[in-house]
Amino acid sequence: MILVHGAGGSRLDWPPELRRLEGEWVYGLDLPGHGHSPGEGERTIDRYVEHVCNWMKAVGLERAVLVGHSMGGAIALTMALDLPSRVEGLVLVATGGRLRVQPAIMELTANTETFNLVLDQVITFYFSPQTLARLVKLARTRMAETRPRVLHRDFQACDRFDVLDRLGEIKVPAQVICGVDDKLTPLKYSRFLAEAIPGSRLVTIDGAGHMVMLEQPEEVAGAVKSFLDDCYR
Ligand code: COA
Repeated sequence: MILVHGAGGSRLDWPPELRRLEGEWVYGLDLPGHGHSPGEGERTIDRYVEHVCNWMKAVGLERAVLVGHSMGGAIALTMALDLPSRVEGLVLVATGGRLRVQPAIMELTANTETFNLVLDQVITFYFSPQTLARLVKLARTRMAETRPRVLHRDFQACDRFDVLDRLGEIKVPAQVICGVDDKLTPLKYSRFLAEAIPGSRLVTIDGAGHMVMLEQPEEVAGAVKSFLDDCYR
């Protein structure tokens, strides 16, 4: 299983409950320009797909279940559509088949001076009102470690992404997970995914927003474990 984080994120966006999911072989990636990986980030989802594929080749991994959050979900969906031989299954967390980004957010991330301002605005959209302030603060600190240029490129990649018309072509088992309080990729997007991807299942999680896996880690890890057990054992 490969965990693919979202815009401006890193492998640490995934909680230990998932990174160390019992009985599973789990890889947590830092995409180029994120976390410990060098680079500047990419302006298209296709370029990120190339990086994930090159990495899979380098470690000798032919196929994997892709677990993608937000922009990572766009990467996972694109791989399932364009390179189906690489994908064993999909877990789509807080994402959608189209990820348009609000122009105000796009503009503010384009400018380094306004980056801190946008962070304070954006971070409030990431979490459920029920989420502990300590967790929100930690997420803000982590996001501030991403260079503005990289985050801006990520948002450009998201904004150009649209596979809404192709979702019916997906043939692998798929699970869609969404927090009911998600403001960035609302439940509507996940319902659409679950209805359009043949045979997929939707798991909705209360008391969680866009960072559902950090907000309700045990529930998300439990859902992923059941999905893997049901589909592959
Ligand atoms: N799945 C299902 N429906 C979707 C969708 C998805 N992934 N993406 C968009 N839609 C729907 C919208 O709900 C809308 O439906 P409506 O006409 O019934 O209201 C329609 O498709 C058109 O939406 P969109 O393409 O997003 O254009 P827009 O001009 O209405 O809105 C934004 C543009 C940026 C304001 C809006 O997409 C938004 O608020 N996005 C979420 C905030 C954000 O920036 N998220 C970051 C994602 S990484």
